[in-house]
Amino acid sequence: MYMVSLKQAAGLGMEELDSLDTITAELLKFIQLKNQRLYTHSIQVANYSVSIATKMGLPKSEIEQIKYAALLHDVGLLFVSNTLLAKIPYLNRAERGLYKRHAAGGGNMLENIPCCQDIIPSIRYHHERWDGSGFPKHLRGANIPLGARVIAVADYYDMIINPSTEFWAKTKQQAVRELFSASGLLFDPEVVKAFIETLG
Ligand SMILES: [Fe+2]
Repeated sequence: MYMVSLKQAAGLGMEELDSLDTITAELLKFIQLKNQRLYTHSIQVANYSVSIATKMGLPKSEIEQIKYAALLHDVGLLFVSNTLLAKIPYLNRAERGLYKRHAAGGGNMLENIPCCQDIIPSIRYHHERWDGSGFPKHLRGANIPLGARVIAVADYYDMIINPSTEFWAKTKQQAVRELFSASGLLFDPEVVKAFIETLG
């Protein structure tokens, strides 16, 4: 069902749907049309994630997968209204429940597309936390896929330095301090260390 609608919307042939690069580019167009900030966030998180993965010395193929997963980490938010997205820091319990569905929902969106299989775990678990306090599965430590641990740090950093989000709007120095204090609690210490090294 989803494959057909994506094909129709993007005007693609079935062979082209086999390319992760093409799928990602087309979905990013939908993300940009829906919400410009969500689009720039996706690009930024991918840039940070690639820097982290490179600093950690991961194989090139894994860095590529992390890049695509990061670009699409919030693809499940396509099904969350912009009204709700605009009030994220102030969501009530019911709204927060809806919002939290986007992580597993993004993975579900891609599960019938063969070329997306390797990036699904990093999307589905990008809100898991090192201490088990995340969602959707309360995974902890190394049980969280490495790509998801990388994206989690990049995602958090970009969110809190975003000047359009008054609720957070921290300086880069404040954001680095927060990452340090959350290292080993919310985030993989090795990932935090690599990220801070990339910031110089
Ligand atoms: Fe997310």
